[in-house]
Amino acid sequence: MQRQHETAPRTGISTLESVALTATRSAAVASHAWAGRNDKKAADAAATEAMRQVLADAPGRGAVVIGEGEKDEAPMLFNGETVGSGAGPDFDIAVDPLEGTSFCAKNLPGSMATIAFAESGTMFSPGPGFYMDKIVVPPQANGVVDLADTPERTLRKVAGALGKHVGELRVVIMDKPRHQELIKRVLEAGAAVHAPAEGDVGGSLEVLLPSGSADLLLGVGGTPEGVMTAAAVRALGGDMLGRLAPQREAEADALRAAGMDLARIYTRDELVGGEALFAATGVTGGALLNEPRESGGTVLADSLLISSGEVRRVVHTTFGAMPRPTS
Ligand code: FBP
Repeated sequence: MQRQHETAPRTGISTLESVALTATRSAAVASHAWAGRNDKKAADAAATEAMRQVLADAPGRGAVVIGEGEKDEAPMLFNGETVGSGAGPDFDIAVDPLEGTSFCAKNLPGSMATIAFAESGTMFSPGPGFYMDKIVVPPQANGVVDLADTPERTLRKVAGALGKHVGELRVVIMDKPRHQELIKRVLEAGAAVHAPAEGDVGGSLEVLLPSGSADLLLGVGGTPEGVMTAAAVRALGGDMLGRLAPQREAEADALRAAGMDLARIYTRDELVGGEALFAATGVTGGALLNEPRESGGTVLADSLLISSGEVRRVVHTTFGAMPRPTS
């Protein structure tokens, strides 16, 4: 998973790599101060404010196509907000400053600060849609899946593409009441299910990264998480499909009023169509990323950058102490 830093000059969206990493690192360190304090709103607010400050000085002009927070009335970088200093490329942003707020509030592994950038005008805007049905597969299974297929057929197709038996597949499906039937069918088909309580961005990374422990992700999660995941999928060459999946009548009504087609299946390139990058920094640690920690008068933060077809693991060292929660 770890690769050497490239020496070739970076262009376009890849010039935003360092601002992406600074944004997720700042958000992770700020929200880590709230880990285990049973206050997910305060943790989310700390992450959002830290990320907002970094993005204000980003080179270029960014439009937040999809922020996070509306569905849970959490603090957010809101949809349509523009950020950046103006001197540099125009770009689209999808953010979830704290992905896995409950994990952070309970100090359980799996929360992370996340951001994705893409060329201006190439990120899907789900309008008033909060939820999306998703399939995420690694590069070897590109082009073989279809959201219209049954789960059993999807498993057979992915197994074939990966050169495995269905019984060898490991499928990430969030442990939600809406997924009971799906989990049952996947188990009956013989595959193993990894069912985290939340966090489908982390689940998708387990599918996409060469070091990951899963073969595909299925099920309904947030739209911001879907678009961010699509940026990572596109940057790495995996595949993804999404379909709006409103969970309440009011959400469905709002989508119809906005003229959105609830039956339409969006391809990876319709979700994110241009050059894209994705960054994440660990907040409470876990299999993918460590939590920030103090060491000899410095703060170490563990990040992942997916950009230009490669994955880099970056450990940042900042002089100073970890922030303490302010209440
Ligand atoms: P947040 O902590 O940012 O709210 O997201 C956690 C998460 O589990 C996402 O990974 C997932 O896409 C979404 O929430 C699912 O929403 P819900 O918990 O409402 O089913």
